Amino acid sequence: MSVLPASSREWHLVARPHGWPTPADFALRETPVTEPAEGRVLVRNLHFSVDPYMRGRMNDVKSYIPPYLLDHPMDGGAVGEVIASNAEGFAVGDHVLHGLGWREYADVPARHATKVDPALAPLSAYLGVLGMTGLTAYAGLFDVASFKEGDAVFVSGAAGAVGSQVGQMARLRGASRVIGSAGSDEKVKFLVEELGFDAAFNYKNGPVKDQLREAAPDGIDVYFDNVGGEHLEAAISSLNVHGRATICGMIAQYNDTEPVAGPRNMAMIIGKRLRLQGVLVGDHYGLQQQFVQEVGGWLGSGELKHRETFVDGIENGVDAFLGLLRGDNTGKMIVSV
Ligand SMILES: NC(=O)c1ccc[n+]([C@@H]2O[C@H](COP(=O)([O-])OP(=O)(O)OC[C@H]3O[C@@H](n4cnc5c(N)ncnc54)[C@H](OP(=O)(O)O)[C@@H]3O)[C@@H](O)[C@H]2O)c1
Repeated sequence: MSVLPASSREWHLVARPHGWPTPADFALRETPVTEPAEGRVLVRNLHFSVDPYMRGRMNDVKSYIPPYLLDHPMDGGAVGEVIASNAEGFAVGDHVLHGLGWREYADVPARHATKVDPALAPLSAYLGVLGMTGLTAYAGLFDVASFKEGDAVFVSGAAGAVGSQVGQMARLRGASRVIGSAGSDEKVKFLVEELGFDAAFNYKNGPVKDQLREAAPDGIDVYFDNVGGEHLEAAISSLNVHGRATICGMIAQYNDTEPVAGPRNMAMIIGKRLRLQGVLVGDHYGLQQQFVQEVGGWLGSGELKHRETFVDGIENGVDAFLGLLRGDNTGKMIVSV
């Protein structure tokens, strides 16, 4: 019988945020650790993911994913090491990806755990570039936006987990021009100098519409939207005839307390025969094998780069999440437990 820790700390949502969440909406609580029941494994989490979609789960509204319950542990992507197993096929020492993040120890049904190999990639990569955000970029660009060689691509949130991959994937598959927007001059420099974007701008430095026109004088064929609002309106103006937009996220409005007006130039969709389509990564797990093969190859050859921002300590989990909403991260935001 393995010796288990007596207790585990986990983050609970204790109040539903109105507007921007604050630390008072969350509590770090202790819970006993027990041996896993049949068909389950006990995992010591090493890293967990904080993601923008989690903000939506803090509201009590019907959505594509259930809201977090008050006074219950929050969940989300995590990777860790099995420390006790009561499930066939899983042994102590195995590393697994699963959905019970925001806690030190997770009691996971084995059918919801996927073994991952730390020799193939650092464990945190399975939460980002080789995980959910990487697949979102891949599916959103290649499947949903029907990207083709020669397209000029604009991506917002370009220095983040999804955006930084979208721009590089477009470049690697032969985009004629890749443009990104981000929220600091340092991030803009990172996009151009480290990730090979052709142009980038800081959306805080002036109207997005003007900065995009300057960065893409011949227009764009694909827009990958992580932000919504002013960015979407500017992109509609810059999209060429038969342009496509993947609507992946609208982080600019996740903390709004009132519904916001949509882009004022929607009529352009008609004349330019544009296609705007939403993406949900969950619809695209069928691409997983192809994604891992192609992206794994690019990573192995060094053609595709990825950055992570680590925040250490479970006690800093909420700060990491709030920092993500503010733009403290470059690349994937990860909490190391
Ligand atoms: N549909 C799906 O299946 C799916 C899956 C994953 C993610 N997403 C969406 O994709 C987007 C990116 O997610 P991610 O995980 O890669 O997060 P991320 O981009 O790594 O982090 C969020 C970033 O959003 C930016 N941001 C915050 N407020 C902003 C504002 N008002 N205007 C412009 N940018 C703002 C910040 O960067 P700056 O410093 O540049 O402001 C921040 O770093 C999010 O909208 C998310 O909801 C969708």
